[in-house]
Amino acid sequence: MNTPEVVIDVTGLDVWYGRRRILHDVDFRVETGEIRVIMGGSGSGKSTLLRHLLGLHRPTRGCVKVFGIDIARASRSQLQEVRKELGVSFQGGALLTSLTVGENVALPLREHTRLDENTIRIMSRLKLEVVNLGGFQDLMPSQLSGGMIKRAALARAIVMDPRLLFFDEPSAGLDPVVSAELDELILRLRDALRMTIVVVTHELESAFKIADSITVLDGGCVLMTGTVDEVRNADNARIQDLLNRRPREVTVDVDAYLRRLTEEDAG
Ligand SMILES: Nc1ncnc2c1ncn2[C@@H]1O[C@H](COP(=O)(O)OP(=O)(O)O)[C@@H](O)[C@H]1O
Ligand SMILES: [Mg+2]
Repeated sequence: MNTPEVVIDVTGLDVWYGRRRILHDVDFRVETGEIRVIMGGSGSGKSTLLRHLLGLHRPTRGCVKVFGIDIARASRSQLQEVRKELGVSFQGGALLTSLTVGENVALPLREHTRLDENTIRIMSRLKLEVVNLGGFQDLMPSQLSGGMIKRAALARAIVMDPRLLFFDEPSAGLDPVVSAELDELILRLRDALRMTIVVVTHELESAFKIADSITVLDGGCVLMTGTVDEVRNADNARIQDLLNRRPREVTVDVDAYLRRLTEEDAG
């Protein structure tokens, strides 16, 4: 597969879960070699968007193209081709506790390649070095700190040399120093390995440090996509609320509330 200029091209994506509309007419394009941050409050649809980019769900409406391939219409073998190029590091994507760190990192190679044992060992050690865990391959996950576990999970996510890497909340639960190290690492993956990276985070400091561009989601809608400066200076009250961590003003529309209740009864 050649790497096109536009790695991700989402147009008019609508997602409904039952009677609830979760994503509204989302357009989302990511170019080769950029770090795109997806920002937005809890429940704004960030993870849902990621799951659609991974082809884990079919869009209710709209089109999701990754590496030029329409995920909803792809054949099984096309999907496999695309997935080979994806690395995923999700919040819950912990290591298997019964395997050593090195064995954890080697898992995708064992599952998806026919490389011999020696090559697998060398490749997983190299990836542990990339995340500054060189020499840690024989430890058990329980012997690592929280930040080291994140880095080992990252080594596993990149062990197949994906061209596109997804992170969901990489620094959740980490102290500021460790999360700053993770930011450095993400920048290094873009610069040294030329990966295209999509990061979901609500850590503003981290977002501003690593992003080439930011997409702001709110209530399932894209409020804007722009550079760090464009987002910071956006003349949009909702974005400024997010940046200043002001909770959304809660307006209770009694009529709408009652209508929803009765609709749900009917359904
Ligand atoms: N599988 C699902 N079924 C029904 N509703 C869901 C499902 N997954 C997420 N949601 C709802 O969709 C909305 C967006 O969720 P999510 O994408 O996880 O938001 P975020 O990652 O921005 O916090 C939330 O209101 C959530 O409750
Ligand atoms: Mg989420």
